Amino acid sequence: MSALAAPYALLAELTHRCPLQCPYCSNPLALEGASAELTTAAWCRVIGEAADLGVLQIHFSGGEPTVRRDLPILVAEASKAGLYGNLITSGVLLDAARLAALVEAGLEHVQISFQGSDAGFGDHVGGFAGGHAKKLEAARLVCQAGLPLTVNLVVHRQNLDHLDAMLAMAVELGARRVEVAHVQYHGWALVNRPALMPTRSQLDRATATVEEARVRLKGTVTIDYVVPDYYARRPKACMGGWARQFINISPSGLALPCHAAESIAGLTFDSVRDRSLADIWRHSKAFELFRGIAWMPEPCASCERREIDWGGCRCQAFALLGEAGATDPACALSPHHARLVSTAERESAAAPPAFVYRRIGGAPSAAG
Ligand code: SF4
Ligand code: FES
Repeated sequence: MSALAAPYALLAELTHRCPLQCPYCSNPLALEGASAELTTAAWCRVIGEAADLGVLQIHFSGGEPTVRRDLPILVAEASKAGLYGNLITSGVLLDAARLAALVEAGLEHVQISFQGSDAGFGDHVGGFAGGHAKKLEAARLVCQAGLPLTVNLVVHRQNLDHLDAMLAMAVELGARRVEVAHVQYHGWALVNRPALMPTRSQLDRATATVEEARVRLKGTVTIDYVVPDYYARRPKACMGGWARQFINISPSGLALPCHAAESIAGLTFDSVRDRSLADIWRHSKAFELFRGIAWMPEPCASCERREIDWGGCRCQAFALLGEAGATDPACALSPHHARLVSTAERESAAAPPAFVYRRIGGAPSAAG
């Protein structure tokens, strides 16, 4: 067996607090409160341990990471430790003074997410009046500061037909990279799946739009494209494979192989309060459970793609089949794939229900 490589990146979910309420938020339904969050000193220790382990990048995310007043201290600590620091933010709190402090601390890259191309729709999806205008302003400040900007466009049935306008907005803002990501159906997005699931023809048009824009914008803007699993023939290598490239730390300090791992009932996770990051990476039961290929059932176990997609997504297998160790039903070789496709077709053909907005206290009811 080959030696275990170091994780490539640390996803530091500094907080679940956020002024927005996106109905596809990747945070768990049970959000952690401010009193549970790791202290500044604990985060600084974890950042040092990450660098010692061989991590190269740190992504400061949340929730909204800029609600943490100590963010410049953490960015400076990461910079001092030699980590490439990226901020993943909604942008609504990123004013000139805050950004200047982060630049001074050594921040190297910013990703700002947009819900749409116009204020009315963007504010509706984010559940935050005035949010879109603040995001535009934040994006301009980032470019003026000379930092590379990535614009994240989360797309779904209610904004896919405006993808052209969203891409034009990102270009106008000066983004160097655009990530067009179809909603992935975990947590809040699973609850809201009928309100978000696109039709297959919407998806095909969006894919054509991205392909055309990639050619037109070559050399100016890089466009990454994440397709929705439900219409795929083979799954993605979710997280680059379970516990292969990333460690996600929750606001309270739980070390997770992926941001949605807590949705898998029965798994327990170690805390960076109790164990070092290196010890967790190498020996945590939750990390070892689905790492590599030894855990795989058929058809994955003998599939030629098993070390390409690493069996797809464990959280999706659990959410849809109740079994985290099953073949991801996004794979056409799964016996459950046809049901996944028919669910997507049925939900996308019906009128979209109202959003269930992200909020502390969880969703009032969960869709199946
Ligand atoms: Fe991937 Fe398993 Fe499907 Fe093969 S059978 S493509 S390894 S999910
Ligand atoms: Fe957890 Fe895919 S979201 S493994």
